[in-house]
Amino acid sequence: MSAISFADWMAATQARVESALARHLPGSDCIPARLHDAMRYATLGGGKRVRPLLAFAAGELTGAAADKLDTAACAVEMIHAYSLVHDDLPCMDNDVLRRGRPTCHVEFDEPTALLVGDSLQTLAFELLASQPTAEPARQLEMITLLAHASGSRGMAGGQAIDLASVGKALNQPELELMHALKTGALIRAAVLLGALTGQPLSADERLGLDRFAKRAGLLFQVVDDILDCTASTATLGKTAGKDDAADKPTYVSLLGLDAARSYADELRSDALDALSIFGERARRLTQLADFICHRQF
Ligand code: IPE
Ligand code: IPE
Ligand code: MG
Ligand code: MG
Ligand code: MG
Repeated sequence: MSAISFADWMAATQARVESALARHLPGSDCIPARLHDAMRYATLGGGKRVRPLLAFAAGELTGAAADKLDTAACAVEMIHAYSLVHDDLPCMDNDVLRRGRPTCHVEFDEPTALLVGDSLQTLAFELLASQPTAEPARQLEMITLLAHASGSRGMAGGQAIDLASVGKALNQPELELMHALKTGALIRAAVLLGALTGQPLSADERLGLDRFAKRAGLLFQVVDDILDCTASTATLGKTAGKDDAADKPTYVSLLGLDAARSYADELRSDALDALSIFGERARRLTQLADFICHRQF
């Protein structure tokens, strides 16, 4: 186990993922240049890279090789970047600021942003299918997992519920389902893909990791809801206060700020409990759960 601090490990992993993404995204020398520029704009040079970090941390549990983790990490981050581009479109959240810069459709145009999402999505699957990440049956499992997490029973389904819920007061199970799908599904996929890249886990270990991944995914969106109404636009790099302005149901609108914060702490504890089976091997995942819970942006 490496002795480097969490901050150094995070910075090194983020830099590693940045250069892997830059390698896999077509350059502006490739026609159509404008679309490729927009894909690079939406994917490179920003973001916390939480999903890649989770994939790398989960890969430590199963002894996965770093070059294989690059593939899993890039595939999930491409899906995430695509989801942000579409999430920001005028027909969805209508946001003009993302990662401290104009959103993709503002910097380019709406049709380009639509195609950036389409192209990042398919590039993610091309990558996962074409690079040798694991033995063939496991690789197919990884592709299926990411497809399920991205589609109508995962992220896209959660986004559909989000849009249909504007102005409605959801109850807690309904809100939890929306969050588990729109954000949790991809976070869970990042963790499981990282682990699948290495040696198989026992059935109990897999259950524990899955429980961690689900709690961490929900925690991520609960904290996103909290930050939307407590942090500044400058800190977030995206417009603050949008949920309230757009009348979206969130954990803050449902529970109030203090109870939402307590619920986040509870989810963090549950997530950490689920890792107990792994002992010290789960050190990075533990640190990431703390980061997700206490982050400022
Ligand atoms: C924002 O995700 C959208 C949600 C799913 C809540 P992140 O907070 O991970 O965004 P980046 O990648 O760091 O910009
Ligand atoms: C976004 O949720 C979820 C996805 C992009 C799938 P939000 O709409 O709350 O994300 P932000 O706050 O715009 O980053
Ligand atoms: Mg949204
Ligand atoms: Mg949004
Ligand atoms: Mg949000």
